[in-house]
Amino acid sequence: MGYVVTVKAPGKVILYGEHAVVYGEPALAMAVNKYVYVTAKVRDDSKIGINAMDLKLAGLSVTILENGDIVARTDYGAVISALSYVKRALEIAMEYVGKRVGVDLLIRSEMPVGAGLGTSAAVAVATILAYVKALGYDIDKRELARLAWQVEKDVQGAASPTDTTMATFGGLIYIKPEGNSVIMEPVKPGTEIPLVIGYTPRVSTTKELVAMVRRKLESMRDVIEPIIKTIGVITRRGREALEKGDLELMGTLMNINHGLLDSLGVSTRQLNEMVYAARSAGALGSKLTGAGGGGCMIALSDKVDVERAIELIGGSVLSARLDSEGARVIDDKSLPTLK
Ligand code: PMV
Repeated sequence: MGYVVTVKAPGKVILYGEHAVVYGEPALAMAVNKYVYVTAKVRDDSKIGINAMDLKLAGLSVTILENGDIVARTDYGAVISALSYVKRALEIAMEYVGKRVGVDLLIRSEMPVGAGLGTSAAVAVATILAYVKALGYDIDKRELARLAWQVEKDVQGAASPTDTTMATFGGLIYIKPEGNSVIMEPVKPGTEIPLVIGYTPRVSTTKELVAMVRRKLESMRDVIEPIIKTIGVITRRGREALEKGDLELMGTLMNINHGLLDSLGVSTRQLNEMVYAARSAGALGSKLTGAGGGGCMIALSDKVDVERAIELIGGSVLSARLDSEGARVIDDKSLPTLK
């Protein structure tokens, strides 16, 4: 029996610890209440139809043929890249249920795709869950997170499990690399965390930025290693401040974290301008979030002035709160319907 099922999965920001986490230091990530929505409707053949109505890029309509080819009329590379995650997620979901049944998918995102907010992971998680549920099957969250991580690894070559974990489980997660594995501890916030997310187009990829930091570390270990270790200390202190609900201390630690990320060379002039504009407009703290090189910054604030200040620098703005549920099936009549 097949249904029409809609799933939403949250994006994420990194509050503290990006880049240092690559070298074994902890990081703290937060799922945000901005979502990717995937609606799946079972077809009576084995074709896949995809309507990407709003990926904060151009909308398009494509078909995946039975031999796996994607047919689309668009020249937007980022959209095609997002669709590779959908295609692989469907293949993995079909393996999970043990059959190939065609579906029409409708995909919508409240976040910009490819800006570092974890949209590709949210797409992978939501696609798998929507497909499995539309076919009348169940999947537990650990398995869902594992399969979605596999999608990211298959499409990207390598991927950390952070984004798929956040999109699946939601909440706040303290990420601690231990040898070859990663320990993820849920963290309980002592207060609500008001965030403004500012974003600009990304000019470098995560892979390039991670490689650049590695070159710096290798050529100046005595200078760079203490910076990385200090970011680790900031993350541990940031977790304590979060658990106590001490927003002022959280903000101060974000500011220091940003300065250290800038010293590693991963910020950009526009990101710095957005970070400083947010502070001048009254944010308790602000920093770039994710890999840097353009992309996103966060400000600890619920002030409209902070949003306006970021927009004046040319950034687009999303205001966000914690998502504590992660991926789930929804019954949302306000979404566009699949005919
Ligand atoms: O670009 P994002 O938001 O996925 O962040 C990457 C975070 C890094 O620490 C730079 C890389 C990583 O794999 O942890």
